[in-house]
Amino acid sequence: MAGESQLWIQGEWVEASRLVPLENPYTGEVIAQVGYASVDQAKAAIESARRTFEDFRHVPAWERAHILRSVAELIADRAGELAETIARESGKPLKAARGEVERTVQTYLFAAEAARDIRGESVPMDAAPHGERHTAYTVHQPMGVVTAITPFNFPMNLVAHKVGPAIAAGNTIVLKPAEHTPLSALVLAKLFKDAGLPDGVLNIIPGDGKELSEVLTTHPDVAFVTFTGSPRVGKLIRAQAGLRKVTLELGSNSPMLVDAGFDEGELNKIADETAAGAFSYNGQVCISIQRIYVHRSLYDRFTAMVAERAQRLKIGNPLDEDTDISALINQEAVDRLSSWVKNAVDTGAKVVTGDKIDGRVMHPTVLTDVPENAELSQEEAFGPVVLIAPFDDWRDAIRRANNSKFGLNAGAFTKNIDHALLATQELHTGAVLINQVPTFRVDQMPYGGVKESGTGREGVRYAMYDMMDVKMVAFRSGAFS
Ligand code: SIN
Repeated sequence: MAGESQLWIQGEWVEASRLVPLENPYTGEVIAQVGYASVDQAKAAIESARRTFEDFRHVPAWERAHILRSVAELIADRAGELAETIARESGKPLKAARGEVERTVQTYLFAAEAARDIRGESVPMDAAPHGERHTAYTVHQPMGVVTAITPFNFPMNLVAHKVGPAIAAGNTIVLKPAEHTPLSALVLAKLFKDAGLPDGVLNIIPGDGKELSEVLTTHPDVAFVTFTGSPRVGKLIRAQAGLRKVTLELGSNSPMLVDAGFDEGELNKIADETAAGAFSYNGQVCISIQRIYVHRSLYDRFTAMVAERAQRLKIGNPLDEDTDISALINQEAVDRLSSWVKNAVDTGAKVVTGDKIDGRVMHPTVLTDVPENAELSQEEAFGPVVLIAPFDDWRDAIRRANNSKFGLNAGAFTKNIDHALLATQELHTGAVLINQVPTFRVDQMPYGGVKESGTGREGVRYAMYDMMDVKMVAFRSGAFS
């Protein structure tokens, strides 16, 4: 029998306006009845966060750090159970879910460290005529209520990337977790309470619909909005948010370049990392490798190596220890992706391996000869599909990698220092990773994009400073003498 969950507001469970069944994406079994918030309940959560802020903004940094460190320890203590919750509701294979829990612990530990190291700077006032006889410095102050709207693909760690910095900064939060994965977020309510977080600092309100999101972005008590999801919703949030600060992390169709000059052993290693970077969590990762450009001298060999690894991946139930690939999050994702593969094939693409659907599982798919105007070249696949194309000239490969409306992470494998430098200078993305796949991320890294990949940066310290106001303070000396 599925359990029932409610809303977490002002440090207690509040009965939701309605219950909605939550399905395991792989088995289709109902695993919980999730309480959804009404618009009025969302307003109540924001208003309670606003009232709590009046006290919480005075809580010193060492105490906020202590709470964040304690929550990291509590998560580590329950790692096995939490990984199962992620796997069950998101369809993420258990191995990957365990990795996510480990990263979540790190993210909260980084938040604890960041909280203890918030620094302003001294301002050289006498550098300007008339500035002399002033002593000045900046301080960073919390902004107030942060609303956070999080995605299904990293239901614990991407929540931590919003909640951690918000608490480190001294803000209060209203969190709306993804509709598909609310349980991994709701479990935090009790963990934070046990870690000593005052009631009302963290409020969690699952829900759906435009009206709910609109309240979270437009309520007058909201100071900062942080969202991870699609560019379509990101643009809407930006338009609604008015003068509020907004961080948007909106995905990508990440490119990777493989230069000439790698021997068989090295190419095998790159192929291993490519298969992990393209197919982990069924490719439902914003920095999943989607477009690979390989030097023509290695193209046939490398394509065969990646295809061979794709075929070896074990498909199955996310809760089985050895599963690598499982169900996509919903039927809509399966239908969208299979129609994009079909359109690509109809316009000349070749299937090297994959392009097979079993229930909601899409087999890892490798395509070549995909036209540049196909959806799979232009849009974010967000599934286990990778495109491989040859290049003859490094500059041309960079140009093709940049031929995208997105720009989050890019990876480039090369032994040529000039090529590496050119890639770092010319790839128009938030991060360029040399001799690394674009899927690489550790949680203290600045993370975010250009173009339609979004605005602002996550990576705990960066997000924390974004969630604070800079105040300039000046003391004039000798004013009356
Ligand atoms: C994302 O999909 O945006 C996050 C990727 C990650 O944290 O590894």
